Amino acid sequence: MIGYQAENHLFTLHTRSSSYQFMVDPSGYLLHTYYGPRVGGGSFAYRLRQADRGFSPNPNSEGHTRTFSLDTQPQEYPSSGVGDFRIPVLEVENADGSRAADLRYQSHVIRPGKYALPGLPAFFAKEEDAQTLEITLEDPVTGLRAVLYYGVIESRDMITRAVRIENAGDKPVALTRVMSLCLDLHQGDLDLITFDGRHTGERHPHRRRLAPGIQMVSSTRGATSHQHNNFIMFCAPDAGETHGWCLGAALVYSGNFEAAVERTQFDTARMTLGISPWQFRFTLAPGETFTAPEAVMIFSREGFSGMTHQFHRAIRDNLCRGEWAHRRRPVLLNTWEAAYFDFDSEKLLEIARCAAETGVELLVMDDGWFGTRNDDRGGLGDWFVNEQKLPGGLAPLVHAVNELGLDFGLWIEPEMVSEDSRLFAEHPNWALRIPGRPATRGRSQLVLDFSRTEVWQYVYAQIKKVLSSANITYVKWDMNRSLTDVLSAALPAERQGEVYHRFVLGVYAMLEQFRKDFPHILLEGCCGGGGRFDCGMLYYTPQIWASDNTDAMDRLLIQYGTSFCYPVSVVGSHVSAVPNEQTGRVTGLDTRAAVAMAGTFGYELDPRSLSVAERQQMRLEIDRFRHLYDLIQYGDYDRLTDPFAPGPFTAWQQTAPDGSAALVTVVTGMARSNDAFATVYPRNLLPDALYSVNGADAVRGDVLMYGGIPLPHVGGDYRAMQFELTRQG
Ligand code: GLA
Repeated sequence: MIGYQAENHLFTLHTRSSSYQFMVDPSGYLLHTYYGPRVGGGSFAYRLRQADRGFSPNPNSEGHTRTFSLDTQPQEYPSSGVGDFRIPVLEVENADGSRAADLRYQSHVIRPGKYALPGLPAFFAKEEDAQTLEITLEDPVTGLRAVLYYGVIESRDMITRAVRIENAGDKPVALTRVMSLCLDLHQGDLDLITFDGRHTGERHPHRRRLAPGIQMVSSTRGATSHQHNNFIMFCAPDAGETHGWCLGAALVYSGNFEAAVERTQFDTARMTLGISPWQFRFTLAPGETFTAPEAVMIFSREGFSGMTHQFHRAIRDNLCRGEWAHRRRPVLLNTWEAAYFDFDSEKLLEIARCAAETGVELLVMDDGWFGTRNDDRGGLGDWFVNEQKLPGGLAPLVHAVNELGLDFGLWIEPEMVSEDSRLFAEHPNWALRIPGRPATRGRSQLVLDFSRTEVWQYVYAQIKKVLSSANITYVKWDMNRSLTDVLSAALPAERQGEVYHRFVLGVYAMLEQFRKDFPHILLEGCCGGGGRFDCGMLYYTPQIWASDNTDAMDRLLIQYGTSFCYPVSVVGSHVSAVPNEQTGRVTGLDTRAAVAMAGTFGYELDPRSLSVAERQQMRLEIDRFRHLYDLIQYGDYDRLTDPFAPGPFTAWQQTAPDGSAALVTVVTGMARSNDAFATVYPRNLLPDALYSVNGADAVRGDVLMYGGIPLPHVGGDYRAMQFELTRQG
């Protein structure tokens, strides 16, 4: 609900359990007053304190009053170059070379429903479940306008933000920094949590106390990156999983980003989140507009788990779209680690035959089926079937796989081109390259200039033809290198600062076209695993391959960090062969299956290499996953332990929203001789209800939660146990 008190120009945005408030001051500045637990509607304007602070200048409109300074006031969308020295939110270069923008309130409108953003992903809601506040600010000197969008999805505790910049003046203006979100918190003694890592080790949480000055994570790789996720958290220093306040903020975008936080001189904190200003320069001619991507926030007073539950619900119900958002996803077997580039129709059919016996529902043919792609040095861009490997094209193979009772899917990497390809020979300037400078390779490939509509449309036409040639029900959309040599042959020198963003817009446009033409195809995102794991992609692809690392023990860490924002239903997770390809570690099939069940669940191995007993076990695990499907995919997810902290095991829980069932999964670490008794403590059960654990006599929910479930001594390293709690009365 969005409330507006005209007499004191106060806006209060209420969600189910949080409130967010700001006001327009007499000079037209938007001052932030509150973000925290839901309140009845009182004004927090009294928190805006003023004093004459040395070296904090005063706007001219204040006359000679020295107590009001933009440098000290908490603001919603601060002006720049006119007296606020904290991290800037908007930076412009005016036609006269000046770098100032002074934005003042003009008007506002409150509408039912949630705004959408043209060409960009955004959370959505039914008209009756959301509201939008649109505020127009204007610079009286240049005519530059900023239209701030606030969306409130009440039941999800979500507040969304976006901004459209309009050049309403009569001269061009260049935007050099346009953050989507600014949040000026009234206290600075906070913990910041970011999710960081590397290829095959993504989204490990790092928590630290805010220090004076600016702390920042960002990506300049053209995609969100394996190194830092564009979801971050703040919390009270004493907050944990089940207590203390916290808030999470995510950027709904898949390109360069920056999340910066400043603990200020007066112990407040400013957070900004948006497109990275690195190499960003977007020119607006008079009348032109620029829309910055959406950023969303969820506040919880019940610790991290309260925030996580709401993010998971919002991503499942208000971000993932299309048929597959809520449809039961197939248990798939991907051929990558089974065959790499070395396959033909016959081999795929043998794998499919074997997979069918175990209950696998979908065969995914990974990289290597097109052009002259026999290794990772050539063929990208040539999206036609390699008939030496697949005689007669896709149709006969897919038909034969379908006959075995399996659906069929395939891998593509549309944004890339190999120098050794027909596409590159025909259109060498379709790759991002700097004329006169040898191209930088990544995985021996170059990046196509998707900022050009004709480029993505050409690639798409080829892919569309292939997809239309057979019964394809799944596509894995990959992206296997970072952007370099970023120069578009189609744009003049002064517009090259737009290419990174235009590239992302091109990717989104092609994804949108794909979704329209093939609504029945399940799309899985991928970027060398988890290099583009973000809310932007989830608007188009309802699941994303979480990491190229399939080792069960490493996955515990990756999936733990991922779970703070992203629900199980979007986390691509598979059982692979041992010794594991990435770590060389050997874990049991049951452990690998239990870990993959904290995701979409599938296989990434050659079932022909398994023993009969292992294949039987695979069948049982697939049956078990099917039986637990709703609980796993739609249950509320709780992290019961922190796998980065010392301890004998890692555990998590999925609980039916009505408390009728729960699944507790435990994975032990290295075995220790004569170790202490271990106990896992479930959460979120109904205290008075009776639950049976794996079919044993029923026990009260409160007994289980506070007394815990004793773990049997199983012996050996890395062992998994699953406890199914079923309500009996
Ligand atoms: C990336 C993906 C893998 C696989 C290969 C194929 O690394 O993350 O899963 O598809 O590409 O080349």
